[in-house]
Amino acid sequence: MKTEILNKEVQNYINANLETDLHSLLLKKSPFSDVSMQEMVQQIKGKKVAQRKFPFLLKEDIVFPPNLNLEQASSQSTAEFKADNLNGKKFLDLTCGFGIDAYFLSQNFEEITLVEKNPELLDLVKHNWKILNKKATFVNENLEHFLAKNSESFDVIYLDPARRDSEKNKKFLLEDLSPNLLEIQDQLLEISSQIIIKLSPLIDISYLISVLKNVAKIQIIAVRNEVKELIVFLEKARKGDDVEISCINLESDDAEFAFQFKEEKTAVSAFSEPQQFLYIPNNAVLKSGAFNLVSQFFNGKKLHPNTHFYTSDKRIERFPGRILEINMIDSKHIRKGEKYNIISKNYPLSPDEIKKKYKILDGGNCYLIFTQTQNRKIILKSQ
Ligand SMILES: C[S@@+](CC[C@H](N)C(=O)[O-])C[C@H]1O[C@@H](n2cnc3c(N)ncnc32)[C@H](O)[C@@H]1O
Repeated sequence: MKTEILNKEVQNYINANLETDLHSLLLKKSPFSDVSMQEMVQQIKGKKVAQRKFPFLLKEDIVFPPNLNLEQASSQSTAEFKADNLNGKKFLDLTCGFGIDAYFLSQNFEEITLVEKNPELLDLVKHNWKILNKKATFVNENLEHFLAKNSESFDVIYLDPARRDSEKNKKFLLEDLSPNLLEIQDQLLEISSQIIIKLSPLIDISYLISVLKNVAKIQIIAVRNEVKELIVFLEKARKGDDVEISCINLESDDAEFAFQFKEEKTAVSAFSEPQQFLYIPNNAVLKSGAFNLVSQFFNGKKLHPNTHFYTSDKRIERFPGRILEINMIDSKHIRKGEKYNIISKNYPLSPDEIKKKYKILDGGNCYLIFTQTQNRKIILKSQ
């Protein structure tokens, strides 16, 4: 790691330019002979990302990596959530990256080993962990080589594989990731009782359960209703062959919703025309695919097999998602120029087409929901 970036004058320059436009800054000549403007802009970008993503790193002498590593790193809030209830003696992170997950997940372990193939990135993590007063063994190696030589066991192994290419294929397979989990899962299960893997929410849950061994649990983690991570737990001593799925919406009031994967297969939805309350499940629940189970468990009736809206005449307090008190309205009661939050699901017009047709605007406190029941197309208005 280039230590000149830590010089007092350089750090002062970085801190004085946190709000400066970065494009214009890049056009300027660096006032320092040994640190380029690009290197300082990288630090400014890092501090800005840290403000929203990992505020614990807003400290003197912390050094930030290039954009790609900042983007690939987990956020402090999801890392802290994953760290909950995790403890043991030996913790191994095979894909350290910028080390955000490792920092939090390893908090209740005595020995920490971090493996990362990118030497500059690992150097930088080593420096930051020294500043943060946190000890670990740092291994700059391909994890496949590390595993081939390793004879130790670990209480927990953590992996957060990187996408091999930046292409956004429609179908997302484990073979597209580095490391390829399918090739190393047997090896991992031999040396650890618990393996925790972070995956993209784009990946299909049934596919994961069918190709990974010993899947005990999957957490779907959203932050403010945006699904960020799928966390898969492989356990050597897994009981039974079912998988617990939990749907979590952090930084919201939503209760966690958890179920056994097989339960959805036998669950049955009830259907009805809209009643007093309408429920829109949060995106973590929608990702889980437990559409029939949600109806059965909460005793909410679905409006239509293909629309995941539920209704009831008594308020279901712990429903994991948005709860609206609604009335069914006729389109002639929609007044030109009024403001609404428009939702269109299983309805022939998109929100933009609806706005144009009824000459209404985005915003306000009221929802207009365009959808259909098993019998007809309907418009619902929240109170
Ligand atoms: C998504 S990032 C991890 C981010 C990390 N969890 C964090 O919170 O900062 C994945 C990292 O794994 C590393 N990696 C990918 N394949 C690897 C391999 N075969 N051996 C060692 N490291 C690897 C990449 O270099 C990258 O830094």
